[in-house]
Amino acid sequence: MHRLAVDTGVLDANTVYAYVLWCHDFAATSVVAEVDGEFAGFVTGYQRPADPSVLMVWQVAVDGRQRGRGIAAAMLNHLIDGFADSGVRAMHTTISPDNEASQRLFSSVAQRRGLTFTRRPLFAATDLGDGHEAEDLYVLAP
Ligand SMILES: CC(C)(COP(=O)(O)OP(=O)(O)OC[C@H]1O[C@@H](n2cnc3c(N)ncnc32)[C@H](O)[C@@H]1OP(=O)(O)O)[C@@H](O)C(=O)NCCC(=O)NCCS
Repeated sequence: MHRLAVDTGVLDANTVYAYVLWCHDFAATSVVAEVDGEFAGFVTGYQRPADPSVLMVWQVAVDGRQRGRGIAAAMLNHLIDGFADSGVRAMHTTISPDNEASQRLFSSVAQRRGLTFTRRPLFAATDLGDGHEAEDLYVLAP
């Protein structure tokens, strides 16, 4: 997961330890995709402690050789399929204004599932430091 995050060239790569800890504690709200037994992508997500009806998606990444085959959408749909069992009603994520691929991914999933898809400002660039872009909050909800 760390290697793929680095390879995307656009995601903030967390430490290896952070990904291991994430999988240890948030496996139920995260997904790893495999193609022919090979690691092909991941989604990291968590239920917001202050509002467990929200599943917050942090990072989505698909190996460059496997893109355009519906893998990212399948991983998000897998998480949405589990909503009823876990009491989750909405998916939130943050996306930078220039990440068109991510905006298209989430809007496509929302449209196909009949979910509303809304955006509002969340973190300004000055909140995030290191020359990071702003991150808008996107909400997928019934
Ligand atoms: C964004 C990313 C996860 C998409 O993965 P993917 O498996 O190729 O996406 P899918 O094949 O499931 O496509 C889902 C939808 O997104 C659209 N999409 C995917 N990549 C796109 C791109 N580069 N430009 C425009 N639309 C794109 C697809 O057309 C599809 O929409 P449709 O159903 O209307 O045809 C992948 O490109 C990636 O890992 N990018 C680098 C990391 C990143 O930016 N992550 C998102 C921020 S956390």
